[in-house]
Amino acid sequence: MFRKLAITTATAIALIPAASFAAGGSEGHIENIQFSFDGPFGKFDQNQLQRGLQIYTEVCAACHGLKYVPLRTLADSDGVGLPEDQMRAYAEQNFEIFDPELDDYRAAKPTDHFPANDGAGAPDLSMMAKARAGFHGPYGLGLNQLFKGMGGAEYIAALLNGYTGEEKEEAGTILYENTAFPGGWISMSPPLSDELVEFADGHANDLHHLSEDVAAFLMWAAEPQMMARKQSGLVGVLFLALLSVLLYATNKRLWASVKGKKTT
Ligand code: HEC
Repeated sequence: MFRKLAITTATAIALIPAASFAAGGSEGHIENIQFSFDGPFGKFDQNQLQRGLQIYTEVCAACHGLKYVPLRTLADSDGVGLPEDQMRAYAEQNFEIFDPELDDYRAAKPTDHFPANDGAGAPDLSMMAKARAGFHGPYGLGLNQLFKGMGGAEYIAALLNGYTGEEKEEAGTILYENTAFPGGWISMSPPLSDELVEFADGHANDLHHLSEDVAAFLMWAAEPQMMARKQSGLVGVLFLALLSVLLYATNKRLWASVKGKKTT
């Protein structure tokens, strides 16, 4: 019995790496990145989110919308954390919204959302970081999720970094070879390059840093309440741990009079 159990366990352990390797399949291999928001205690890095917002605004917004994200949330202190007046100015200066009441365009207000943008046939990015998974498993245990997240941000960073420089034309569309995109060919031309965006504080702006910053920003866009979620999860676990101790003690005490006695 014991031997059988040992053999089964050993086989299962031997199979894990093989299975996770096979799951890689035709999809690109996504490397984990140490984001500040990974893990049970992870927090967004406000400076990184602000750089990411700048990159989104200057580059990605030309083709991609963020229509589920309200502009006012840019002032949330556990997110991008723009001061109230800067958030207002940002909305007004960068976006025009069509107002059906005026039957005309007007400058965006904090109560508006980021505009939708489907002009270039590009998907909305509001939920993108949650809609893609960079890695899974092992075996649905959720260990990757706990320590590294689902890899949505990693996937986006890998996608922006993953262009090989090869192009081909198919049915009138130019496709670009990309090692992270499933299938290997994407119709988005490489959006970022070294030094494309300049930061006021002179922060590093090579392709690698730019893609991580915008990926972090899109993670915030997809899950703005992540920090609150992690905090209440932690409180929940602590509460349950305390409750278990109390229940154990109660159980011991309730049965104490019965346990010690001989039954015959
Ligand atoms: C010139 C227009 C254009 C710009 C600029 C652009 N994109 Fe795209 N993007 C596209 C198009 C078109 C697609 C759809 C590609 C496809 O499905 O083949 C796309 C797809 C994507 C996808 C989805 C890939 C998938 O897994 O389906 C992500 C993520 C993305 N873009 C991120 C970005 C980011 C981040 C930026 C800014 C740094 C950006 N894009 C800038 C046009 C653009």
